[in-house]
Parts: sequence; C-alpha cells; structure tokens
Amino acid sequence: MKACIHAEYGPPSVLSVREVEKPVPADGQLLIKVHASTVNRTDCAMLRAKPFVMRFVCGFWRPKKQTLGTDFAGEVEAVGNDVTRFKVGNRIFGFNDSGLCSHAQYLVVSADNFMATIPDGISYEQAAASIEGAHYAQNFINKVQIGAGDRVLVNGASGAIGSAALQLLKSEGIYVTAVCNTKNLDLIRSLGADRVIDYLREDFTQDQEVYDFVFDAVGKSSFGKCKRILKPGGSYISSELGWMAQNLFFALTTPWLARRKVVFPVPLRVQESVDLVRGLLAGGKLKPVIDRSYPLDAVTEAFTYVETGQKTGNVILLQQP
Ligand SMILES: NC(=O)c1ccc[n+]([C@@H]2O[C@H](COP(=O)([O-])OP(=O)(O)OC[C@H]3O[C@@H](n4cnc5c(N)ncnc54)[C@H](OP(=O)(O)O)[C@@H]3O)[C@@H](O)[C@H]2O)c1
Repeated sequence: MKACIHAEYGPPSVLSVREVEKPVPADGQLLIKVHASTVNRTDCAMLRAKPFVMRFVCGFWRPKKQTLGTDFAGEVEAVGNDVTRFKVGNRIFGFNDSGLCSHAQYLVVSADNFMATIPDGISYEQAAASIEGAHYAQNFINKVQIGAGDRVLVNGASGAIGSAALQLLKSEGIYVTAVCNTKNLDLIRSLGADRVIDYLREDFTQDQEVYDFVFDAVGKSSFGKCKRILKPGGSYISSELGWMAQNLFFALTTPWLARRKVVFPVPLRVQESVDLVRGLLAGGKLKPVIDRSYPLDAVTEAFTYVETGQKTGNVILLQQP
C-alpha cells in the first residue's frame, strides 16, 4: 500500500509517498481502507515539531510515528478477534489528535478509538472534513456558559475551526457575528451568520456591539484588544496561546481578578465530538466546508497550501485511486 512518510521534522519537502507493507489488525483492532482524511493545522505542527512542545508528544529527536494524519473516513476491511463495535463493510469516520497515521491507504486502529458510522448520504470527503474543526470548536465553546439569544463573535469564521464553530453556535440558537475576508462573505452568510464583518475593511475590535463571548478561532487577536467588545462577565477564547503564552496566564488570573475572563480549554472530549458531529451531519445541520482535495501523491502540495494559513474550511487528501 502507499503511505506518506516523514522520517525527520521539517517543511513539506521532507514528506514522501512510499510503498510500505499493508498492516494486519491484531485482536481488538480494525483494518480500515482509508478513502479520505484532512491535512490540518495539527498535522502541520507535527510535521515541523513546532511549537517546540510538540517534540514531547511526537518524539524529541525524530518522529515516533512517521505517517501523519489525525482523522479518516473509510471502510472497515477486516476486524481482529473480539471486535463487536463495527463490522466488515461499515463506513466509518474517526479522529484522534495524538495521530492515527491516516495519510495512507490503510490504517489499523483500536476498535475503542474515537469513531462512528458515517450517516447515509454523506460522502467520505464530507465525513473527513467534518470532525477536526468541529471537535476543537465544540470543546472550546462548551467551556463557556452561553445559551439561545446570547451574542457571540467568531473571528476566523472561514477556517476549519471557525466554520464549524459558527454552525455549532447557530444550532444552539445563538446570535453570531462572524469575521472573515471579503472573498468568504457569501460562504459565511450561507452557514448562518447573523452579521458578517469583513476584516479587510473593518477592525472587529472597534465594533459598536458588545458580546457575551468572543471566540478567536484563528488566534489573530488578543484579550487586551477584545476587552472593549466583551460584556461584563463575558469570556474570551483564542485557539492560540498568544504572545508569550499570555492566554494561559490570563486564563489563570482573569477569573479571579477581572470582570471579563479568558478561558484556555484543553479539548479532551473526543468521542462526544464525534457523536455530536454524526448527529448534526445526519440531521443536515452541519455542512463541512471543503476548500480543495488532493490525491495522496500530491501530499507535499497539500501541506504547502495548508501551511499558508489561508485555507477555507478543510483540505482533503484522497487515498484511493
Ligand atoms: N488549541 C488547540 O488545541 C488547537 C488545535 C488545533 C488548531 N489550533 C490552532 O487553531 C488555529 C485555527 O485552526 P484552523 O484549522 O481553523 O485554521 P485554518 O483553517 O488554517 O484557518 C485559516 C482561515 O483563517 C482565516 N484568517 C487568516 N488570517 C485571518 C485574520 N487575520 N482574521 C480573520 N481570519 C483570518 C483565513 O481566511 P483568509 O485567508 O481568507 O483571510 C482562512 O480561511 C490555528 O492557528 C491552529 O494552530 C489550536
């Protein structure tokens, strides 16, 4: 089978697609024929081992897992002994940000990993595009007390996390102001935003409205700049640590010292995210945004594009010819 390999950390040029042995499922494992996976920002961080802390997770000197990929959509081709959760032929999708090695034509995965069956009518590409962003979005949003009628601003609403956050918030009846580039205004309106701010024309931190929650899904702002658009008691979350890891520091201090607080969530509830996504997909309430799809052989181009930080929604890798 073909797999994308990186034996060292570095830019996308260290990746190569090679013939490797097809894995065999052990007891309690599934063999999955991967049809689609995403190339996402977590994969990019693992590829370069940046930030440095990634080395403590992925291997200090060189990558412990030489194949990247944190999500997949595919078909169960074989099952090991003791597997009852899924059967051969099931269409399933799954996610694990510690790495599933899914940038390959086949993978083996423990049957108790974070997975679910793909709803009828949803393609492999759509299924692959639906999990990673939604998982982070859900695990950030659920750390804040908000409900129907509350007002939320999402910056970076055109990214994988932002486009999922917008839809998850709308499914809860929340009023959402979404910030994006001119070219994505129509897309973001079509995903349900109540109001859209074009960041090329307007600085959202100078907005006249105030919000219960400001979610910077691309980590381009700061708590200092967003304070003036937060209501007293409001919360700020960024997907990035910020300058000098300030969001971590503020998350420890603002709940005690300030009227507006920073939350820095650790996104741990993965199976809940997968189940939520499955339900929303089945009910037509989540439309995964797909920017481009690349064949496995073009994995270097896919990473080069994702590293620009300008993809719209998700970039898909197609594993089967
Ligand atoms: N904390 C965690 O656990 C965690 C986990 C995963 C990812 N992350 C981080 O979360 C961030 C977002 O991830 P993602 O996958 O959603 O990113 P992404 O899909 O790569 O985001 C790209 C989008 O951001 C938009 N964008 C770029 N600059 C912007 C700006 N100044 N203002 C508003 N929008 C802007 C781009 O739109 P235009 O180019 O059209 O402007 C593009 O659509 C990344 O920084 C990633 O490292 C954090």
